[in-house]
Amino acid sequence: MTRKFFIGGNWKCNGTVDEVKKIVCMLNGGEVPCPNHIETIISPPFIFIPMVKSCLRTDFQIAAQNCWTKKGGAFTGEISAEMLKNLGVPWVILGHSERRTLMHETDQVVAEKVEYALSQGLKVCLCVGESLKERECNETAQVVSRQVQAVAARVGCWANVVIAYEPIWAIGTGKVASPEQAQEVHYNLRKWIDCHIGCQVAQDIRIIYGGSVTAANCKQIGGQPDVDGFLVGGASLKEEFIEILNARNTHTHKTC
Ligand code: PGA
Repeated sequence: MTRKFFIGGNWKCNGTVDEVKKIVCMLNGGEVPCPNHIETIISPPFIFIPMVKSCLRTDFQIAAQNCWTKKGGAFTGEISAEMLKNLGVPWVILGHSERRTLMHETDQVVAEKVEYALSQGLKVCLCVGESLKERECNETAQVVSRQVQAVAARVGCWANVVIAYEPIWAIGTGKVASPEQAQEVHYNLRKWIDCHIGCQVAQDIRIIYGGSVTAANCKQIGGQPDVDGFLVGGASLKEEFIEILNARNTHTHKTC
């Protein structure tokens, strides 16, 4: 079976109206593999979503960077899964390490968010990954499986989930995981899913890599058998994102 390559551009908390227009223009003019070969999500800050959605090529889908744990209401500053759905946003990134560490989102909070977002018909890019200290203590596999297990305790169907393995020490640092390091974690996580969730889920689920992915390193990492794509931060704001989208290039097409 083949898992369709999946690439996300996570803009994080970046951009002005002018910058957003420029990035969308760059994306719209880019030659990339056709949607039969690649699935692409673009994740602007909430406030720019309507603008990006109205002018972005239709072969790229929009993803929010977060959403609330449950139905909306008196939760100042939050955005609910229903609102995203209502706006026609198909994807949401949940459990990014910046939210786990800076906003103190626990495995349980992330799992709650994933469960609720899926229940509302959103697709989820679930981020997991270890800190440098955890890697040095040989705890990578344990941390990553614990983070997935928290979600597995609440979620039965994984068809609308992509897992992004993002080692914290590689995010925004320029210190990318080697292709072998990425492959090892992805392979072990897939094996864990096979044992604890199910063999069909293990075979079908896309596990993408994130953390300092660039045009220079994407081909090697993306060539690993258990790496099904990337979640890209910094480089998704630049021209080189188009090169990254072509990491496993077969057929390109342009949508202006
Ligand atoms: P980076 O970020 O590509 O800037 O390292 C990746 C991410 O946090 O998703």
